[in-house]
Order: sequence, then structure tokens, then C-alpha cells
Amino acid sequence: EAGTRRQLIDIHEAATQYFEAALKAPEAARAREYLTGRGVTADTIAKFRIGYAPDDFNHMREQLAKHFPDEILRTSGLFSAKEQNDGGQGQLYARFRKRITFPIANEQGKTIAFTARALDAEDEKGRPIAKYLNSPETALYSKGQVLFNLDKAKADIRTLGFALLVEGQMDCISVYMAGIKGVLATSGTAFTEMQIRLLSRFTKRVIVNFDPDTAGTTATEKSIALLTEEDFEVKIVTLEGGLDPDRYIREQGVQQYMAALRNAKRHSDYLIDRAREQFPGRTSDAKVKALNFLLPHIRRMPNRIQRDEFAADAAQK
Ligand code: CTP
Ligand code: MN
Ligand code: MN
Ligand code: MN
Ligand code: MN
Repeated sequence: EAGTRRQLIDIHEAATQYFEAALKAPEAARAREYLTGRGVTADTIAKFRIGYAPDDFNHMREQLAKHFPDEILRTSGLFSAKEQNDGGQGQLYARFRKRITFPIANEQGKTIAFTARALDAEDEKGRPIAKYLNSPETALYSKGQVLFNLDKAKADIRTLGFALLVEGQMDCISVYMAGIKGVLATSGTAFTEMQIRLLSRFTKRVIVNFDPDTAGTTATEKSIALLTEEDFEVKIVTLEGGLDPDRYIREQGVQQYMAALRNAKRHSDYLIDRAREQFPGRTSDAKVKALNFLLPHIRRMPNRIQRDEFAADAAQK
């Protein structure tokens, strides 16, 4: 069991190196152009070990099969198996193809999974392609138990006394490379209790900066609920212009982004403002709806003094 785990870690290191090398090969010219176009520098590529999964079903398997047994290849999540009519074990082929690869590391900085971004929105036949493809759940990796960038950010989170939480890998990478190093990504919008427990070992203060769209707003409210219930202090950043942190930094600059962070709202103020936006006006109907939106959030606060203060603010506004 321990030997299997070791081999799964080793095959992920080998895959990381394979993808890193592939990004330097002539076939990866478009991938390099894509990254350059997004402002991803050579420094960033090296630091985050960004790579490229070539447009090839077999080559990576052939390479890794020289060093790892079939069972490890099969359980690594790096490959998919062709369906067999007889239910037998089908031939393996590369799961990630023609995509930019981002290693997902454990707390110790060992790669345990990948997320991989498509270069194009559609395939050759005009069918939509999933923007990101992730490793499946394996013996090493469970999506809800990992926070992207925790290995690099954990020391800074302790020093800063808070963590900045964003949705996406690219957001996390841009924010980190801009010098704000206590940043983590949830990798999508689902923030789990396991992730919160993990985070609580480093800090109990969080600034949430999810995308300013419907999915991001829903995820923000859900995260506030989970975090405040566990007695975290939560602040919220909402970026102007519908930009996510990655685009905001590129279009508005780091100084402007830092200003937005300084203007982060206490979660209670954020929620009261959300209530007022959703249920405008001074009618009793609007007030009832606004309070119904806020009450579950108020009730969840484990601290009596904060709960009373939130309730008083809500009533007053
Ligand atoms: N995500 C995913 N699968 C998708 C879309 C998104 O796993 N099909 C996850 C990724 O971790 C992604 C995050 O959700 O980083 C946030 O999604 P989104 O805001 O749509 O993507 P961005 O991070 O902004 O991606 P990009 O900037 O590369 O377009
Ligand atoms: Mn988003
Ligand atoms: Mn709980
Ligand atoms: Mn983005
Ligand atoms: Mn986004």
C-alpha cells in the first residue's frame, strides 16, 4: 500500500516532467503562444511547472510504461481505458491531450493530480470542448480535499494572518506572481468542509474573491455560510467590470487590485448590500424578503456578540 502510494507520487512527478518537456518541443508552439498571449512568463511557467499535453493518444503511455507497472498506469488517473465489450481491461490512452497542464500539488509540493486547459473552445468539427479537464479521484487525489497552491502559500498565509481565496488556477497564479503570495484556489466553485478544515490549520481569516458572475456570487454566499459557521472571519472582494482576478490584474494593474483587496467588505456588510440589491425599495415586502435572505446567515454566526451586531446592522439598514 505504502509502495503503491510512493509509485503514484513518482508517476505524477514523471508526468509533470513529461508535460514540462513537451511544452518546450516544436509541436507546442501554439501552446507557448497561448500562454504568452495571456501574459504567462517563463518565470511563471517554471514556478508552477506549467506544461503541455501533446495531441497524441499513446506517446506518454509508451514513455511511462518503461518505468511503471501497468497497475500504476491504470490507477494514476493520467490515462483513460478504451471500453471493452467483454468488460475486460482496455488499452490505455492519454487522458489529457492538446491542453496546457497545471500540476495540482499536495501540501508538501508533490504533484498528485492535474488540471488541464484546452487551447480552443471548439474541436475541428465545431463541437464545444470542456475548458478544463481534471484528474479523476484517485488514491492520491480527492478534489474536495485539496486547495490549489497551498504548498507555496502556506508560510505566507501564516505570516500575513489571512488567506486570499480565488476560483481558478489562472487567478491564483496571476495573483501569486503579482506578489500576493497567500493565495489559494478552490478549483471551481465548490468549497468543501474538508477544505475549510485544511485551511483552519493555517488561518481563520479569509478574503474571498470569486468571479463577479452568477456562479461566483452563489459560491461566495455558500462559502460565507460554511466559513462563518466554523468561526472564520470573512471578507469579500467584488471586482468591477465583471473581471476575474487574473483579468483584473492584467487590465487594471496590481496596484488597483491591491486597492480592491483593501476595500474588501466584512461579510455582514457584503450580505446586507446583497440583500438591498436584490430587494430594493422601502416596502414591507422588500424588508421581509431582505430579512429572510439575511436571517440564516445571522443565525449561523457562532459568536453571540458578532451575531447581535450583524442583526442590529441588518435591522438598521
Ligand atoms: N473549472 C473546471 N471545469 C470547467 C470550468 C471550470 O474544473 N469546465 C474550474 C477550473 O478550476 C477553473 C475554475 O473552475 O479555473 C473557474 O472557472 P472559470 O472562471 O470558468 O475559469 P477561469 O479560471 O477563469 O479559466 P480561464 O481564465 O482559463 O478561462
Ligand atoms: Mn468563474
Ligand atoms: Mn461544520
Ligand atoms: Mn479567467
Ligand atoms: Mn474565471
